[in-house]
Amino acid sequence: MSAHETSSERSWEPAEDHADAEQAAKRGSFSSRRVFIFAAIGSAVGLGNIWRFPYVAYDNGGGSFIIPYLVALLTAGVPFLWFDYALGHKFRGSAPLSFARLKRGAEGLGWWQAGICFAIAVYYAAVLAWATSYAWFSINRAWGDDPNAYFLGTYLEIGDPGVSMNVVPQVLLPLVAVWVVVGLIMLLGVQKGVGMTAVIFIPLLVVAFLALVVRSLMLPGAMEGLNALFTPDWGALLNPGVWAAAYGQIFFSLSIGFGIMITYASYVGRKTDMTGSGAVVGFANSSFEILAGIGVFAALGFMAQAAGVQIDEVVAAGVGLAFVAFPAIINEAPAGAVLGVLFFLSLVVAGVTSLVSVIEVVISAVRDKFDMSRRAATTAVLVPMMVMSLLFFSTASGLYVLDIVDHFVNRFGILLVAVVSLVVVAWGARALPRLADHMNRTGNIKLGQAWVVLLSIIVPIVLSLVLLQELWAVIKEPYEGYPQWMLIVFGWAMAVSLAVFGFIAARVKWREGTSLDVDAGHRGEEVR
Ligand code: ALA
Repeated sequence: MSAHETSSERSWEPAEDHADAEQAAKRGSFSSRRVFIFAAIGSAVGLGNIWRFPYVAYDNGGGSFIIPYLVALLTAGVPFLWFDYALGHKFRGSAPLSFARLKRGAEGLGWWQAGICFAIAVYYAAVLAWATSYAWFSINRAWGDDPNAYFLGTYLEIGDPGVSMNVVPQVLLPLVAVWVVVGLIMLLGVQKGVGMTAVIFIPLLVVAFLALVVRSLMLPGAMEGLNALFTPDWGALLNPGVWAAAYGQIFFSLSIGFGIMITYASYVGRKTDMTGSGAVVGFANSSFEILAGIGVFAALGFMAQAAGVQIDEVVAAGVGLAFVAFPAIINEAPAGAVLGVLFFLSLVVAGVTSLVSVIEVVISAVRDKFDMSRRAATTAVLVPMMVMSLLFFSTASGLYVLDIVDHFVNRFGILLVAVVSLVVVAWGARALPRLADHMNRTGNIKLGQAWVVLLSIIVPIVLSLVLLQELWAVIKEPYEGYPQWMLIVFGWAMAVSLAVFGFIAARVKWREGTSLDVDAGHRGEEVR
């Protein structure tokens, strides 16, 4: 066993010296706690809040979803956010480097997470491209009288489920634009790119979104929508599918379990209060999510009243909800164009600050592993991402592939890697108490035994049950009735290959001079 594998207790002490500054200069860092919190909120608040939460809530019966959602937030969301922060902040590395420093054999988990981020980035950009188009379409209500038919038929040019090679130019162009903008932000680096984008855009997002929600609450029928969102349906608490959706949503939305918060925490000064920061981020994210739910459900209430139907009959739910429900409201509501531009621009802004965080996981992992400049790593990561994104999502079958990848990567990617990493850290490395100590040194909220028990026993059990339920659901019935071969290729094979990739990537040698001892970097030790 080499020196770096024997992390002594002493090596768990924080070391604050010039080596920290040197490392920060090399890897990048956030200039202050404020910038970090903005960036973390920017990452958390994204399409997950505005686009995904309302349709997941709608699909799962509205009121029946809120309680499992809040339970998931408190039992798994915030505690897991602290777990990710602890790993990144203590071990000061990208996801693979942090896991490798915790336990040499755990590195693959970090690469698995980086792989998941790769898959998410590829489709996330497509939804951003749709939102960009729709911000533009809002001005003259290009969708006409039938937003549903417009979205699927005219805009996405969707055909029967399957894979199509027909390129859809109205999706291709904004998709290229999204990749160019995101590429430029990534080139600017951690502080100037990722950090400043969040500092500038998050306040704008909050103002635009508040205006939007206030406006939609004034629509006739809005209260019916809110009743549908907030009236609890106690019977639904017995439905395991609703719980699975709630846990899945919390992990995606808080950006936890797939490397983002590990990476961001590694860019933060050692003296920063991480537990307090986590509470702020968790609270901000869920507030925003519920705000988005209120806006969208108020709008659905309005549509239901106008059409004389029940809320659950208003639109075919699913990934298209935001792109169908909002245009319908914009058509009817006074000053609808303003409402539409606000909504879709909010979606773009929120999405960009999240997409950069997803991509940063991969860039940071590549940079820690190989001797690459930021520019080289950005190119090496973004070019394949963009090519895949254009290949799969600028064609007429984009929506189907997206729906499948989103579903499987959340369940058998994010949730699965979350359980495995908890088991490895809590039981394999028995590291939770030491991670709690680390967080407690600077944190205002102290992590005690309850946190350790939650993460070592309760969360793994709950997530395992959720995963079993999900496995059973997809075995019993093909997801959304898609052809089996599509589910195998874009669902199962995709999810399995990310895990396999993780364990292969972990076998590649670290760049010269990288130490896998927790703070051996400060002592200048080599890996081998
Ligand atoms: N947390 C990000 C979102 O909610 C990924 O969109």
